[in-house]
Amino acid sequence: MAKAFSGIQPTGQIQLGNYIGALRNWRPDPGSYYCVVDLHSLSQTWEPAELRANIRSTAALLQALGLGEGSHVFVQSHVHEHAELAWVLNCLGRMGELSRMTQFKSKGRGKADVSVGLFTYPLLMASDILLYSVQEVPVGEDQKQHVELTRDIAERFNSRFGPVFTVPQPRIAEVGARVMSLRNPAEKMSKSDPDPNSKILLSDSDEAIQKKIMTAVTDSGREVAYDPAEKPGVSNLLEIASTLCGEPIEALAARYRDQGYGAFKRGVAEIVVEAVRPLREQVKELLSDPAAIERTLEEGRAAAEREARPMLDRVKQAVGLL
Ligand code: AMP
Ligand code: TRP
Repeated sequence: MAKAFSGIQPTGQIQLGNYIGALRNWRPDPGSYYCVVDLHSLSQTWEPAELRANIRSTAALLQALGLGEGSHVFVQSHVHEHAELAWVLNCLGRMGELSRMTQFKSKGRGKADVSVGLFTYPLLMASDILLYSVQEVPVGEDQKQHVELTRDIAERFNSRFGPVFTVPQPRIAEVGARVMSLRNPAEKMSKSDPDPNSKILLSDSDEAIQKKIMTAVTDSGREVAYDPAEKPGVSNLLEIASTLCGEPIEALAARYRDQGYGAFKRGVAEIVVEAVRPLREQVKELLSDPAAIERTLEEGRAAAEREARPMLDRVKQAVGLL
């Protein structure tokens, strides 16, 4: 059983891409850690009250997924070792390699008000991972480059200062690692997309989900077929449905091939509604008992600290701070 670490930002509301690309693949194995990465949320503009509420609702979702039993759920800023190791790694990371990060290029480069934090954020992510000596990092496709940077930093550190860090692997699902926007299938579905119809939120009502799927952009023609290059809209819906109901893409495509887009979308909407409803209801129930969330986070913090503290000490020893 591989030990895993992964994180999700409490920025905005969790969308279906987060669930399909990442959360669904997080396993509640002992020794694995799942983190609400609140410090990462400061890398782009934020509202304090909104952030505070989102930290709790994101933690409730992780708890609803059963990740607080077996594995540990905690909040990044509760374990100060993350920020401390990040400084050391900031001094090992190079301007050139960070400049090549595609996420920084798409979110920040060229914008006058872009923060230094957005630029160095992959090194905070590397600190998150390396503190826990994990083998695997389950993430969506868009985070692969950041996990590869983490590997480079770990290897650089180990070769200069001795074998301190475990070099982790990204774990990326074969289907659903890149869920696309419902309004523009050339772009990934994203929490930060201002168009509410581009994304399904895990807090959306059944009716909202149905409406968003029914108005999703599809392609010319009327045949339902899996062809990401020629039919990106239909293919995205097929991937979403297949990952959520467990039926192979080909079987779904064959069933709806000649039924037209309307019938196909109604079928997809039903699958998404059935998948999201139990999560939405569980999160709502958990949020009505804030003390239970606090207990989970406290247990998670204590467990995380038991690993992070000695690891940071080993780093300090190795680099000469101790
Ligand atoms: P974030 O919302 O940036 O905190 O992402 C949390 C996790 O969700 C990361 O592992 C991302 O790779 C994954 N993720 C975010 N958006 C998508 C998407 N549209 N498709 C698949 N995975 C995604
Ligand atoms: N950067 C990731 C994202 O935006 C979130 C994240 C922070 C993360 N630290 C992590 C993911 C550590 C995996 C492991 O999606």
